[in-house]
Amino acid sequence: MSSRKSSSRPTPSDSQDSVPANDSAVVIEGVELKLAHAYQAPGDWIGQAEILKQLLACWITVDETDLPLTPRLLGSPGVGKTQLAIAAAKQQGVPLYIYQCTADTRPEDLLITPVLSRGGEIAYHASPLVSAMIRGGVCVLDEGNRMNEKSWASLAPLFDNRRYVESIVAGITIPASPDFRAAVTMNQDESTFEIPDYILSRLQPTLQVGFPNKQDEMAILQYHLPFAEPEMLALTVEFLQHSHELKLDFSPRDGINLLRFAIKRMAQDKDHPVAHEDAWQEALEKCLGEDAVDLESLAERRRRTLGGDSVPLGLADLFFDADDPLHPDRDDDDDDLD
Ligand SMILES: Nc1ncnc2c1ncn2[C@@H]1O[C@H](COP(=O)(O)OP(=O)(O)OP(=O)(O)O)[C@@H](O)[C@H]1O
Ligand SMILES: [Mg+2]
Repeated sequence: MSSRKSSSRPTPSDSQDSVPANDSAVVIEGVELKLAHAYQAPGDWIGQAEILKQLLACWITVDETDLPLTPRLLGSPGVGKTQLAIAAAKQQGVPLYIYQCTADTRPEDLLITPVLSRGGEIAYHASPLVSAMIRGGVCVLDEGNRMNEKSWASLAPLFDNRRYVESIVAGITIPASPDFRAAVTMNQDESTFEIPDYILSRLQPTLQVGFPNKQDEMAILQYHLPFAEPEMLALTVEFLQHSHELKLDFSPRDGINLLRFAIKRMAQDKDHPVAHEDAWQEALEKCLGEDAVDLESLAERRRRTLGGDSVPLGLADLFFDADDPLHPDRDDDDDDLD
């Protein structure tokens, strides 16, 4: 990451009004801001090296006038979007801040929150995003499309060439350090907001995180559960790979959870150990639901509801296949032609 400063853009350290207060606070335009703590836990990205390189490329600047990109990471729940962003930030060796976006996130939550301190005075707390801007770190806006348009609007100037935010509560404008970088993860489920186009156009490029291949999936499970027995790992990888082939949404996270539960069940009663296979089957059902026991039928049902092109299921669909001649709603076009 470039640490050169652009002469045309103001930065916290350039600004006359911005002075460091101490390690955890900074003064901007005369207002002291308490900074958030950086995220410390380790995070490695296993396999799929290309998408990690693509993300890191977004954050490179090739010239003093160049600007970094803020990519969108898309993919099914549990596929590894957050992990990818964390690992990329760790590779840069800069402080990492994660902001968990929700439907209740208000614009000021993203920026600065006033807090009543013990002496009755107001203390201004910088969000993880603003802390990353000031410290020159990476901010991951996690699950960004859970946030509404109003909150996104407050970030519009940050993600174009202006690179600043305006806090109404503190009455200040905060410029981002030239080293500030960001990425946004987004889920593809229905409980999310539609992000307006003027924001989406600032969150480029789109990086699609896909499911890992067999070898990588095994390595991911081994990385998170180094104490798991090979037999249990193999059963889980087999299951996950089968589910990916059938275009079902079971993810590495599901695999990790089910393995954890199975291992705990096996360790529970040393005198009457549960058989590997039994513990694994039980964990499958309890963690992922009864549907997960028969992936083929689940995939078939999914295919009918999604691909059956939106014809809603009627009572007859429970008893007859769509192409069964006895199906009461069967479309007998061929017969009509005769
Ligand atoms: N390539 C990978 N390397 C290491 N760990 C991985 C990888 N892919 C997935 N994981 C692990 O799988 C779990 C789920 O990943 P993560 O939380 O990043 O998914 P996500 O896509 O952000 O899910 P959500 O949409 O629910 O936020 C985590 O424990 C993560 O560490
Ligand atoms: Mg996530």
